[in-house]
This record gives sequence, structure tokens and C-alpha cells, in this order.
Amino acid sequence: MRFDIVTIFPEYLAPLELSLVGKARSGGLVDIRVHDLRDSATDRHRSVDDTPYGGGPGMVMMPEPWGVALDGIRATAQVDPWLVIPTPSGYRFDQRAATTLATCEHVVFACGRYEGIDARIAEHYATRADWAGVLEWSIGDYVLAGGEAATLVMVEAITRLIPGVLGNAQSAADDSFSKAQGPPLEGPVFTKPPVWRDLAVPDVLLTGDHGRIDTWRTEQARDRTGQRRPDLA
Ligand code: 6GU
Repeated sequence: MRFDIVTIFPEYLAPLELSLVGKARSGGLVDIRVHDLRDSATDRHRSVDDTPYGGGPGMVMMPEPWGVALDGIRATAQVDPWLVIPTPSGYRFDQRAATTLATCEHVVFACGRYEGIDARIAEHYATRADWAGVLEWSIGDYVLAGGEAATLVMVEAITRLIPGVLGNAQSAADDSFSKAQGPPLEGPVFTKPPVWRDLAVPDVLLTGDHGRIDTWRTEQARDRTGQRRPDLA
């Protein structure tokens, strides 16, 4: 699996060298390449933004540098890549979207800043025969300063679903939101010691009766989902 990430803040993506994604990279399971959009600017000031047509606050990212950057990535690609544009105005990125993208061979993330990227970029790459398609995605109902933090979220959510990345093959299937059936949120978990600051681990977990333990866990998951996410219950 290959990810290319285009941004004006390449250092923002440094956390992708750590932890699970970092190990997937060093293990050769995922190839992540970060690009500075300013390297594709076409003027001597390395400009990437300009004032919005029609007026209004803020700045809009110019199409020219994006066209140069994305065409350059396509020229090095082995397959038609997907283009993901993180935006608070996008479709919701959820576990289903992550699962779908985990089956793709090559995904390019275009991280916008300011008021976003000139809309002709999404339109142009959606109609190009040598790109798989364009996905405009939001990670939730709040506004971030740019697409970089959302890209970190999406790359981690996708990478942990790539076969061989998680140590325990069962753990992805058991996640909140991944279950084929049953309540979507996971319930509470406990480890040693059996009593901590007067708080005891629920007795049922110490019985060794896996039938009762499974039933209890399902009840806990159902109660939590109803309490915290009635929209999912
Ligand atoms: Cl993908 N980008 C920005 N800038 N803000 C967001 C978002 C994305 N998803 C939620 N808020």
C-alpha cells in the first residue's frame, strides 16, 4: 500500500514515523511519501494561495501548484491512485470508509489550508482517466486549521486494517464500529491488580466462565452504546 501526502507543512506528518504506522513503514507493509506543495509552486515567491473570487474572508489554495504536485505523483505511480481531499465540507470518513480504502493500492492525500483548495482540483481529478477517483472526506463535525491532522487520523485508521499490520488478527475485527453484529461501542476493560484504590475488577471477569464473560461484555457494550451514542443504538 502506498500513501502520498501533499502539504505546506511536511513536518506535521512526522508522527507517521512512530508507533504502529512507523512499524508498518519500516516493515515494508506501507510506503508513505510526504511532499511539500511549495516545491510545486510556479512563481519565485513559492505562492500557494490567493484571494477568493466573489470576495469573503481568508485565502484559497491556487490550482496550479496542486496540478503540478499531483501530476508529478501520478507520473511515479504503478496504478491509478485515489485522491483524498480532507475537508470539513466532505462526506463523513468512518470505519466503513477506512475498510474500503485499506483495499486500495495507492492513495494520495491533498492537505488544504486556509479556506480550502480551488474546487477545480476535485473536479479535474474526478474526470481524469489515469486517477481512480476523488474522495472529499471530513473526520467529524468540528473545524480544524487544515487537512494535516485529519490525514494523520485517516492514515492510521487505514494502515491498521492492512493485513499483517496488527499483531493480533482478531483485534481489528473486535474494534468498536467493526463488528458484523452486536453493539458498536466496546465496553470497559480491566487488568491487574484485582483491587486498585478500593475499586475492584467486576467479579465475573475473574470466574473463568467464558460464556458468562461474553454475555456480560455484550451487556456492557449495549449499555454504553445506548448511553453515549444513542444515534448508533
Ligand atoms: Cl478533513 N479538515 C478540516 N480542515 N477540518 C475538519 C476536517 C477536515 N474534518 C473535520 N474537520
